Amino acid sequence: MIYPLILAAGKGTRMRSLKPKVLQPLASRPLLAYVIDVAKQMNPTELGIVVGFAAEQVISEFQSDTAIRWVLQEEQKGTGHAVMVGVNNLSLAEDDVVLILYGDVPLIQQTTLADLTSLVNDSNPLALLTLQVENPFGYGRIKRDVHHRVTAIVEQKDLAMGEADITEVNSGIMAVRFAQLRQWLGRITNENAQNEYYLTDIVALAVEDGYPIATTHPQSAIEVEGVNDRIQLANLERKWQFMQATSLLSQGATVIDPQRLDIRGEVILGQDVVIGANVVFEGKVVLQSHVQIDDMVYLKDVHLGEGTHVKAFSHLEGVVVGKDVDIGPYARIRPGSQLYDGCRVGNFVEVKKSIIGKDSKVSHLSYIGDTQMGEEVNIGAGTITCNYDGVNKHQTIIGNRVFVGSDSQLIAPVTIEDDATIGAGTTLVKLAPQGELTLSRAKQVTIPGWKKPIKKL
Ligand code: UD1
Ligand code: MG
Repeated sequence: MIYPLILAAGKGTRMRSLKPKVLQPLASRPLLAYVIDVAKQMNPTELGIVVGFAAEQVISEFQSDTAIRWVLQEEQKGTGHAVMVGVNNLSLAEDDVVLILYGDVPLIQQTTLADLTSLVNDSNPLALLTLQVENPFGYGRIKRDVHHRVTAIVEQKDLAMGEADITEVNSGIMAVRFAQLRQWLGRITNENAQNEYYLTDIVALAVEDGYPIATTHPQSAIEVEGVNDRIQLANLERKWQFMQATSLLSQGATVIDPQRLDIRGEVILGQDVVIGANVVFEGKVVLQSHVQIDDMVYLKDVHLGEGTHVKAFSHLEGVVVGKDVDIGPYARIRPGSQLYDGCRVGNFVEVKKSIIGKDSKVSHLSYIGDTQMGEEVNIGAGTITCNYDGVNKHQTIIGNRVFVGSDSQLIAPVTIEDDATIGAGTTLVKLAPQGELTLSRAKQVTIPGWKKPIKKL
């Protein structure tokens, strides 16, 4: 059985934050959430997480997850100590393979971990994930003998002459058979430059016991990139976003500039979707075939039906949109709204918790809130639903084929029946009956012979 053990007790001093490092967000999700996800993809029955700094905060973020066994490492005495505290408090079997992961290395992939753990068996109890880097500074170096066999890991601060040039480094991620791990942990000491118990010291102990050390590498270096400060976090964010944009491209979407797309959640794509520059997706976004999203659009938890076009600078959240709908530019559609097939919501229009029926049009400068609108309605520019009386919100009901003239105020609760017309500038306070023209307007007068005032001297 694979038993993932995630080390997450460190403070992350260099983040200069009150928030523990493993809760810092990558694409809006805590770093640790990524590691938990990939650990679960290894199908363990449970997984362990070692926490220390701000432990309560970390635990409360994931408290609903019953697969996690939390272990408290009160004092951070090194990675070896963290694993020791972990395994001492978890129920492990002799031939379990402990998979060591780091809470601040979020992009490790399941395929790499499957590769790593597959190397572990009775006669090969320890496998390391290593990689070649151009600048090995800060990493533990993988020491090999003339036969290319791993002999030890040497930490940056303990390097001897010549060892600094070694470019094969320890990612920190490893897989170890529990029977041997427990034995080796009992033998490590803190006699080193940092007076820490190094997990990496188990490598030399394994060699001492006559075991070969297996190694494998991640497919991409980004998988083992750790986050220590906000600069690394920002860099990782851009790389991760680029990877996600690339994934949309390979699924067949047109992404105008893969460097200028942000996905903070999940995107589900149909065919031939076009995504402009500087678009942000959050939560769950579904884009059916032939959807076109222009530049500078923000979509959160949105479903867009086939052929729908969202024009520049539009902001949609919690919205279900049908087919061939035309939105924006500069439209704001708020949660609880549904836009039916073929309708149009134009520039400077705000829609809240409303239904815009099939083929209806709200083209310019309107506020539609708490409204149920039928089909083929035309709402003139500057129409406002007055849905709030200062205390309660009220509904506006608009039937089919209604025409509302520009600059009207519909004072809710109010109903406009099918085929009714509302004259421009109307303040509607009661039901507008079916098929009739309803308007409220002061009569227009012209004063004959009226003279413009003359400036007094
Ligand atoms: C470690 C490795 C090094 C490797 C590097 C990769 C050791 C001794 N060194 O070094 O070979 O190249 O990672 O990034 O293992 N942690 C705890 N409790 C502790 C100490 C650490 O939970 O007492 C956690 C940290 O929160 C972090 C992880 O373990 O997630 C790694 O610790 P860190 O101090 O960053 O180790 P490095 O010095 O970077
Ligand atoms: Mg580190």
